[in-house]
Amino acid sequence: MKNHKSNICAIIVAAGRGERAGLADGPKQYRILEGRAVLARALQPFCDHPEIATVLVVIHADDRPLYDALGLSEEKLLTPVIGGATRQQSVLAGLRALQGERPDKVLIHDAARPFVSQNLISRVIDGLDNNAAVIPALALADTLKRADAEGNVEETVPRRNLFTAQTPQGFAYDAISSAHLAVEQHAEASALEFTDDASIAEWADINPVLVEGTPHNTKLTTRADFQQAREKLAMMVPDVRVGHGYDTHQLVAGNQIWLCGVELPHDRSLSGHSDADVGLHALTDALLATIADGDIGSHFPPSDEAWRDARSDQFLHHAVSRVRDAGGTITHMDVTLVCEAPKIAPHRDAMRQAISTISGVDIGRISIKATTNERIGFVGRNEGMVALSTATVVMRTPE
Ligand code: CTP
Ligand code: MG
Repeated sequence: MKNHKSNICAIIVAAGRGERAGLADGPKQYRILEGRAVLARALQPFCDHPEIATVLVVIHADDRPLYDALGLSEEKLLTPVIGGATRQQSVLAGLRALQGERPDKVLIHDAARPFVSQNLISRVIDGLDNNAAVIPALALADTLKRADAEGNVEETVPRRNLFTAQTPQGFAYDAISSAHLAVEQHAEASALEFTDDASIAEWADINPVLVEGTPHNTKLTTRADFQQAREKLAMMVPDVRVGHGYDTHQLVAGNQIWLCGVELPHDRSLSGHSDADVGLHALTDALLATIADGDIGSHFPPSDEAWRDARSDQFLHHAVSRVRDAGGTITHMDVTLVCEAPKIAPHRDAMRQAISTISGVDIGRISIKATTNERIGFVGRNEGMVALSTATVVMRTPE
């Protein structure tokens, strides 16, 4: 009928136990991937898709607390229903529960595919305009071999016309419901294991058509799939940390100062519990900030006599180790010194080299800048020096 907008529902099957993934902390669909549960990622594009009216999740009877803990609040979500012992039974439970919604089309999707996109959903929906069954698929690129249990190749299978099937698979609601029911009521067929809904449609003589899947839309089945997924997400949203540090020390009578790991003759000295190297102190704080690991005072309390007159290179060295132990790679360090004297430019490269030696970071990633304070304030009156610093750290993908 023209101008009739279809009522399209989505079923997300999430009642499996994830045995092949063998995760110690529960079923795979509730595993957090880069801050978000697999199931939450899998259902989001359906909730966001303008053509989908409602989304129903099929969960395992034991998983209600896990589901509730996701705190999902999307308006299109129906109350979840309980699935069965096989994927097929879970889908049927979902199809039955949707009866009241009177959908004319339904998309059935695995919770274990968290990388489904709105474009892919659109392709399946568009395919349903002229077909009762539509599945996203990818043409096989690798050469196929059939081998025996010992790994001896028996033959090469021509890959032409071969595809791998993905989800979401789309169907006319009445057609797929009847097919599932027919399988359930058929003694021999119900004993077969159908691993997707298209094969149930095929059994009922409904021939699905293919639309282009996406290589991105993988199913998380094994533990290795999870590690790969984490790496993929980490590449999409790299965990880059920027830390900031500030320090100031008073200038008192004296004839030398330590600045950024270099000892310089001067007509004053910096006063402090340690060697009072403001530059290294600010940089140490910037590094600790990238891993939210307190500040220099919490690692080296000024009240502790052990740090009296201590060289500040050990503070920096300690912060660098903490960052590395936390899985961080230092990609950049920047220090700004604010002082009226001495002139920093002649010592800039020696300072960069000193920081490079202490930290093991390439000198090309270390920047030293300086400015006077235009004779204003305590810095301008030569009563003290200030240092500001930023550090940039890229965190490793957690295992
Ligand atoms: N599924 C389901 N009900 C079942 C079995 C599977 O809803 N009784 C769902 C899974 O939660 C998953 C999808 O079907 O989202 C695809 O199944 P699969 O990847 O095999 O997941 P599991 O069955 O959980 O994993 P495994 O086979 O390794 O135990
Ligand atoms: Mg399974």
